[in-house]
Amino acid sequence: MTWNSRTPNTMFRRLPVEQATGQLYGGRHRLRVVYRTRDLVVLGLGVMVGAGIFKISMVQAAANAGPAVILSFLIAGGVCLLAALAYAELSSIVPVAGSAYSFSYVAFGEVWAWVVGWSLILELLLAASVVARAWSLYAAQVVADFGVPVPDWLGGVIGQPKGFDVFALGILLLLILLLATGSRLGLRTLWLMVMAKLLVIGLVIGVGLTHFDSGNLTPFVPPARPASGDGGQSVLDALAGAVTGGSPQVFGVWGILAAAPAIAFAYIGFDLIATASEETDDAPRKVPRGIITSLAVAVVLYLGVAVTMVGMVSAQRLDPAKVVLTTPFTMVGAGSMGKIINIGAVIALTTVILVVLISLTRVVFSMSRDGLLPRGLASMSRFRVPSRATLAAGGAAVVMSQTIDVLTLEQMVVIGTLFAFLFGCAAVLRLRRDQPDLHRPFRMPAAPLTAVLGIVAIVWLMLNLMVETWAYFGAWMLAGLLLYLAYGRRSSELRALLDRPVPQRPMAATPAAPPPGSRPISTVPPGTPGVPPYQPERFPAGGGARPWTPRVQQPQYPDYPPEQPTGPQQVPRQRTGPQPVPYQGTGPQAHPTPPEGLPYQRPQQQPYPPQDHPPQPPYPGGRHRR
Ligand code: ALA
Repeated sequence: MTWNSRTPNTMFRRLPVEQATGQLYGGRHRLRVVYRTRDLVVLGLGVMVGAGIFKISMVQAAANAGPAVILSFLIAGGVCLLAALAYAELSSIVPVAGSAYSFSYVAFGEVWAWVVGWSLILELLLAASVVARAWSLYAAQVVADFGVPVPDWLGGVIGQPKGFDVFALGILLLLILLLATGSRLGLRTLWLMVMAKLLVIGLVIGVGLTHFDSGNLTPFVPPARPASGDGGQSVLDALAGAVTGGSPQVFGVWGILAAAPAIAFAYIGFDLIATASEETDDAPRKVPRGIITSLAVAVVLYLGVAVTMVGMVSAQRLDPAKVVLTTPFTMVGAGSMGKIINIGAVIALTTVILVVLISLTRVVFSMSRDGLLPRGLASMSRFRVPSRATLAAGGAAVVMSQTIDVLTLEQMVVIGTLFAFLFGCAAVLRLRRDQPDLHRPFRMPAAPLTAVLGIVAIVWLMLNLMVETWAYFGAWMLAGLLLYLAYGRRSSELRALLDRPVPQRPMAATPAAPPPGSRPISTVPPGTPGVPPYQPERFPAGGGARPWTPRVQQPQYPDYPPEQPTGPQQVPRQRTGPQPVPYQGTGPQAHPTPPEGLPYQRPQQQPYPPQDHPPQPPYPGGRHRR
């Protein structure tokens, strides 16, 4: 879609790709370029390998799927791969910080972009709070593992699942400070911690495999049985119950499918790589590579841990309410691994919070830059990071983590993410149909089939989430919609741009009078209208006003025919350097040959596109300031 005067200025106004990426108008990209492909992979692993790897395989094996949880990991991985391919294509077209929010702005229009952005804010805000809480639980466990004395007054405010918690508060404040003062330090820290947690996971798999017993894998798919009802009812169960009158079941084939949405929580993170696009060198190529590579590595790691765990103990012996990664090691008498796992968990969760906060900040930054949130949040600090957005988003995460029982809201993170994935797949379809000629350095293979498959699979996962989760999600989205109608719709940058009259093609300028105290330079022929005579006495040696070059409109030279030889005595002029290519076009020449004796002046370039050019957005500077 290109911009023109007929673009309807409603809340469905769509952001042109050129505007989103700043290719035509410049100045939208203001974040420092810090990431290469390998940094993106680390960023992805930083967030994907977190609470999920330390908990989900065992919990879902015990609660829903038995050893067949391995299949649930494959199914969730397959669905996430479809979403990842969609994100890869979209971020190769629109490599900007808003990720799914920006993709939706380009593909569907502003109100949809807001809805997706608001859902991303839910995902990321809640993920930061949930993981900070989990961090506190593991950190308190590490303190206990090593027998560190804790004063009584502190004992009641660390490692708490809800209410005021010093550890959760401390880790959030520390990371917010780190990010608000520059991203390079954050990146180095991230590399170190991701390497450390990969080491721990390697150790978990290595030691776990020494206790592997294939007998624990049978029955691979335990027979279905009625659910206890403690965990609530999924939308699908409710629908099936209404139609067939049956009650929800666990295990069996449905159990494998029911485990998949929770496992999607574990893979959350590859999508966040797209929010780093503006900070990535050659983003249209490197971001797709980073997204797909990091997801592939994460799937292998998760499968490795899942196979090891279900091979160590029989899932039927586990209590889903109490199980964690250390449980199988304790059960096989390798309890000493517990300390290492808890340290690994603290490191792993630190990187999750770090990356989630980075992404949250970038989404808020993008939405503010577009005027849908207060514009002040898009300002850059002297550290060349959006510090205000970092402080605002981080502050919200701190408040949420300390006031709400966030650990019970983990599925809200999943629904927010799946909702954004849905729009990602749909955006691929929409842009392929509406703008087939866009440059796509990465193309989703076998689209549109894969994109449609992605949509169906994501809807399926969403329907497997709890009715309660859907209700909370609906309330959040409704609040967001009201906020958009009250604020974003009016303050939108795009609305302001479309409201301004489309400027006409600039006319030839009349020569301007020179400012006082200036002098012409020698290239202007003496006597040119509008240029005062040179007065050397006005420019004392060693000082005075700067020379001024008057902008004089030169005549538009006609397309002169080639010189005709007038006699044998005429010697053709010899040129040095490359020969000019003869003009082949039918319109006026871009750089017409001036007549002999007159200075050549390059004609002023016309803005592009000439007729439908919107006014320049008020962002200073060029693209990518390094
Ligand atoms: N994927 C992230 C984790 O497992 C959210 O913690």
